[in-house]
Amino acid sequence: MTEREATLHTDAGDLELPVVEPTAGNAGLDIRRLRGELGYVTFDPGFANTAGTKSSITYVDGAAGELRHRGYRIEDLAEHCSFLEVAYLLLFGELPTRAQLEAWSLEIKHHTLLSEEMKRFFDAFPRSAHPMAILSSATNAISTFYETYYNPSDSEAVIESAKRLIAKMPTIAAWAYKKSIGQPYVYPRNDLDYVENFLHMMFALPVEETKIDPVVARALNVLLILHADHGQNCSTATVRSVGSARANLFASVAAGMNALWGPLHGGANQAVIEMLQEILDDPDATVESTIARAKDPNDPFRLMGFGHRVYRNYDPRAKVLRSFAHEVLERTSGTDPMLEVAQELEARALADPYFAERKLFPNVDFYSGIIFRALGFPPRMFTVLFAIGRLPGWIANWKEMIEDPDTRITRPRQVYVGIVDRPFVPIDRR
Ligand code: SDX
Repeated sequence: MTEREATLHTDAGDLELPVVEPTAGNAGLDIRRLRGELGYVTFDPGFANTAGTKSSITYVDGAAGELRHRGYRIEDLAEHCSFLEVAYLLLFGELPTRAQLEAWSLEIKHHTLLSEEMKRFFDAFPRSAHPMAILSSATNAISTFYETYYNPSDSEAVIESAKRLIAKMPTIAAWAYKKSIGQPYVYPRNDLDYVENFLHMMFALPVEETKIDPVVARALNVLLILHADHGQNCSTATVRSVGSARANLFASVAAGMNALWGPLHGGANQAVIEMLQEILDDPDATVESTIARAKDPNDPFRLMGFGHRVYRNYDPRAKVLRSFAHEVLERTSGTDPMLEVAQELEARALADPYFAERKLFPNVDFYSGIIFRALGFPPRMFTVLFAIGRLPGWIANWKEMIEDPDTRITRPRQVYVGIVDRPFVPIDRR
């Protein structure tokens, strides 16, 4: 196939732009010679139209509302796989054989303990500390025990770092939760699988035998899979950007966690529950008033859990979660008034021209919080659950970036619009 090209005509001259061909989705115009040859840079706040990399991990079809990891549909992975199986797929590019999955699960199982000194780390936080602050701090803290694995060029060390991050994140999350409620830390158990172990560490008490509800374990397994990766979203782009400076994997992931915490990104699942709770509690906050606020250009309020940079259709993850919410509620708390409010809010918004014209649909965060709540997690833990799910996606993208010969340190340009030059004024004459 002859190489496609685009021609850019400017007042500074013309430039042939080679086309970077995709296997699916948008092709890319290679502008790497633009500034050198024509003196122009592109202007694209938020990089909504700019690819910073080629990737083979996840494909999101925003128009069709489809999501695939290494070519597999998210619906199939959520229905048939374990979370560690999907983590393996994201990291190594293929679904594991039974033997590979058993070996992988055993490797992860043998690294779930935290160094005992880490207990004092948790003790240093106030009970009121947000668990996302603890999660990102603890991610950097545990890296101090693995400095031998810091080198991004050592592929074996990278996999060892990946195993420790995936293995220890549920322990860190559970201990942050236990700290917040003044209960004893619960150690991981090797007789439980990854998700059961996390639930055990979250909800077990030393004074009684706790049973893991298989329905809850299965639901959490699906939820973690649905959050596992999503292309070059804000937190993944952050992980890649920090890693492009050759910072180690732990430091890059910790940075991604902080980006995810933002209410416009992974923090939205907690913000959705707070929005629904306000409608239930505050007589002045109704579905109508909430939608009116979301539409008001003078009100910074956004309808949390709605809209997406890529999806111009229903987020396929939200579809799975919407039907899943009913199943989980039937098997756990019965009904939840929040689900009814959420469904009324969705119906009203989808029927409203403001949302229809802007192609704003429910995203992954709209229903996830209702299910997390039904599984017994408090809202302040929701973004932590998102981070545990997204961890393999962050690691797979970081690894792909490190191994990509095209990778350069992230250093975007700017269009400078400030004062260009003026004489210095001594302080007594200002
Ligand atoms: C996640 O990128 C990913 O893949 C992220 C994610 C992942 O898996 O990693 O999918 C996870 O972060 C999902 C998104 C969770 N965030 C929220 O639910 C917060 C509410 N949503 C928005 O803030 C917003 O939709 C974003 C941040 C998600 C996307 O913002 P964009 O792409 O920058 O869109 P925009 O702000 O330019 O909005 C376009 C228009 C604007 O109106 P106009 O200026 O054209 O009049 O749509 C409006 C916006 O005001 N709009 C909304 C809205 N989202 C967009 N109006 C009301 N409520 C909303 N939720």
